[in-house]
Amino acid sequence: MTKIIAIANQKGGVGKTTTSHALTAGLAEKGYRTLCIDLDPQGNLSASCGAVNYNIPTVYEMMKGEVNVKDVIQTLGLYNIIPANIMLSGAEQELNSTGKEHRLKESLSDIVNDYDYIIIDTPPSLGVLTVNAFTFCDEIIIPTTAGIFATAGIQQLARTVENVKKYCNPNLKIKGILFTRYNPRTNISKQVKEIAESFAEHIKAPVYDTTIRNGIAVEEAQANKEDIFTYNSKSSVAEDYRVFIEEYLKG
Ligand SMILES: Nc1ncnc2c1ncn2[C@@H]1O[C@H](COP(=O)(O)OP(=O)(O)O)[C@@H](O)[C@H]1O
Ligand SMILES: [Mg+2]
Repeated sequence: MTKIIAIANQKGGVGKTTTSHALTAGLAEKGYRTLCIDLDPQGNLSASCGAVNYNIPTVYEMMKGEVNVKDVIQTLGLYNIIPANIMLSGAEQELNSTGKEHRLKESLSDIVNDYDYIIIDTPPSLGVLTVNAFTFCDEIIIPTTAGIFATAGIQQLARTVENVKKYCNPNLKIKGILFTRYNPRTNISKQVKEIAESFAEHIKAPVYDTTIRNGIAVEEAQANKEDIFTYNSKSSVAEDYRVFIEEYLKG
């Protein structure tokens, strides 16, 4: 059975794209057939993977039904990607007909079973793109930083999840909350993690034991257009994402 995971948080800069890339690369390295989908008009995942995302059809044209999924998939080493670019920012206005929440799911129906894991990187909003990801996926992983963690924000996200569950995807669930860019030496991080854990009980989503430390290797890997494991498999961030993937696979 294919597992489809959306990486979401309406806040920017919390590690969605970094987590999407690391999870994709890590699962592919373990031998799973893995596809990632860039669903953010900023195209950061496409850029950090080194995918081509200009002068070619992308996820945007695919969701509008202008091209077939097979025309937008690129193979990058061990995994595949469907790239995005700024054109996708038009989707919020243009995807407005009945069934607009199902466009992503419909576009991928022919190829879903070719993969063990499909990972979707989402934009920093709870609009039609994120709702398309939630309609298609089985589960959501929420990355957050200790500095930015706000119960109001996660509550809003949880409300969107409830709505999508009600109208579009009854089996949807929040799989877990992942702390990223974590500095274990600061008390603030520890306190925030405790608050998060008690809050997470309310929305019935666990906080992962693994936290992803802050490390310079992330930006270096991005600049090199490599995933964190290829760039520096011994870096603290690579180590943390490896432990996270094991925790994910156990749960
Ligand atoms: N563990 C980390 N250590 C250091 N920098 C990180 C880490 N995770 C992400 N970053 C940096 O933080 C910024 C935001 O991360 P990103 O994954 O793009 O977040 P989002 O997709 O939620 O906006 C990027 O510049 C990225 O390089
Ligand atoms: Mg991003």
